[in-house]
Amino acid sequence: MIQPDNFACHNIYLETERLKLRPFKIADFDIAVPFYRDPDFLNAVEESPPDEPVTTEYLKKAGKFMRDSGFLFAIVEKASGRTIGEVCLQWMNLERAKIAGEKIMRLPIGIWDKTLWGKGYGKEVVRCLMAHAFGKLGIDRFCPVDVPVDNIRSIALWRSLGLTVARKADSGKMLDFEITRAKYEKATQNST
Ligand SMILES: CC(C)(COP(=O)(O)OP(=O)(O)OC[C@H]1O[C@@H](n2cnc3c(N)ncnc32)[C@H](O)[C@@H]1OP(=O)(O)O)[C@@H](O)C(=O)NCCC(=O)NCCS
Repeated sequence: MIQPDNFACHNIYLETERLKLRPFKIADFDIAVPFYRDPDFLNAVEESPPDEPVTTEYLKKAGKFMRDSGFLFAIVEKASGRTIGEVCLQWMNLERAKIAGEKIMRLPIGIWDKTLWGKGYGKEVVRCLMAHAFGKLGIDRFCPVDVPVDNIRSIALWRSLGLTVARKADSGKMLDFEITRAKYEKATQNST
């Protein structure tokens, strides 16, 4: 049963060593707003940042789009109990990255609090959701798309997990990354 405050409308709960992933709640938008007003975070996640300060309503609109096309999670830090970000395991919605007959997912992710960047949290989240997507949802290909060429952290994150550039987009300003099921399985076998 979906509880009234469960904005994500799914009941998937996942856990890593230091983090919990739980369905995104309506109240999480209010926690996110101040972080979206930090230009460092906003410019990293929004291709065309709004002129007006970000509001709860603005985030809800974007959240609804993700919720309707995948599994939207809040990222919770176990040690502090704080909600520190959002991530969506989302079915591929860009024509250029679709392949007939393949199940493909993308993964918008944002750790809101920039003091927590570079501590391995992003990698923990993505590892966990890749395992879920390949293992439980049976995807064929995992493709984070629209990564700005100047987003060093995001690029480093995908590369560190064995993903490679599938294509450049938007006149070379964006990168699409990918890893196939075969390559993912080989990499996980080698690491166990
Ligand atoms: C992008 C983001 C999710 C990455 O998560 P993170 O927790 O900061 O990254 P991690 O600490 O897990 O690092 C992952 C890898 O990238 C490397 N890395 C992290 N920050 C780096 C930096 N500034 N320069 C170079 N490499 C970096 C790490 O060393 C690690 O590689 P390794 O395991 O081989 O050592 C996070 O920084 C974030 O939310 N940023 C703002 C929003 C954003 O940019 N979202 C993506 C939009 S496309």
